[in-house]
Amino acid sequence: MHAAEASVLEAPAATAVTVIPLGAALGAEVKGVDVADGIGEAQFQAVRDALHRHAVIVLRNQHLSPADQIAFSKRLGPMRISFYNRYAVPDHPELTVVSNIVEDGRAIGIADAGMLWHTDASYLRQPDMYTLLYSLEIPHEGGKAIGDTMFVNAAAAYEALPDADKRALEGVRAVHSFTHHLEKKRLLGNLKRAPLTEAQKKETPDVDHPVVRTHPVTGRKCLFVTEGHTASIVGLPEDESAALLERLWAHLKNPAFIYRHNWRVGDLVVWDNCTAHHLAVFDYGDRRRRLYRAGIAGEVPV
Ligand SMILES: [Fe+2]
Repeated sequence: MHAAEASVLEAPAATAVTVIPLGAALGAEVKGVDVADGIGEAQFQAVRDALHRHAVIVLRNQHLSPADQIAFSKRLGPMRISFYNRYAVPDHPELTVVSNIVEDGRAIGIADAGMLWHTDASYLRQPDMYTLLYSLEIPHEGGKAIGDTMFVNAAAAYEALPDADKRALEGVRAVHSFTHHLEKKRLLGNLKRAPLTEAQKKETPDVDHPVVRTHPVTGRKCLFVTEGHTASIVGLPEDESAALLERLWAHLKNPAFIYRHNWRVGDLVVWDNCTAHHLAVFDYGDRRRRLYRAGIAGEVPV
């Protein structure tokens, strides 16, 4: 590890981080980084800058133990331990298993995560700032990987709004609700997880956040309402609230703002939950899919 760090300092050209945009809207592949081998400070800053510039970064061909993933995650900030500890990676409560695999009659992970557009843990007072998802098993069909993840650039979506909308949304807040999210999922027939315990319900009371939040690092304004977790606009009658949310959600689905990630085993995908919202594509039935997720705690959105 010390040798690798020294080589970054002494021979930057040999260990340069290369950033290749993956889509017009957001997303970039970051090359030249082997996370398990240890990353020097200069390399890490290049990765972090790429994350803020592109909102979603993809590091291919990684070979990560849970400890490697945790060590890298902690460099981005304090990890938030999920209250779904029943789906934690064994002996690593910092990581959550995202999977449809059932072993010995027991689901090894969350099987229904991300079916609606959302941004991670927006139903908490302090939503996750970043998410790191590492793929271990990816389903295929006809030689092509399936089970993609879609990302939308919520800063670009905000910037594309008419000025009148931007003015109208100033100071407006919306309610984000985990209970509402699970009920919406149940009504769609997609709920596949155990119901919340009373203790878990207490940990996730409804919260309100600004409809337009400002990124703490880039300063960009980002639309912050999601189909998955935003229940209502504060202070509006129910019909007006629903109509405004439907309009903003439709705006956030414009293909011009979207990057669709086609997974490979060994991908470490890191995203910024302020600039990017995301959606999991459930097109793989019961073909095995397994990823490990880490969440980095964020500040209260402003
Ligand atoms: Fe998510």
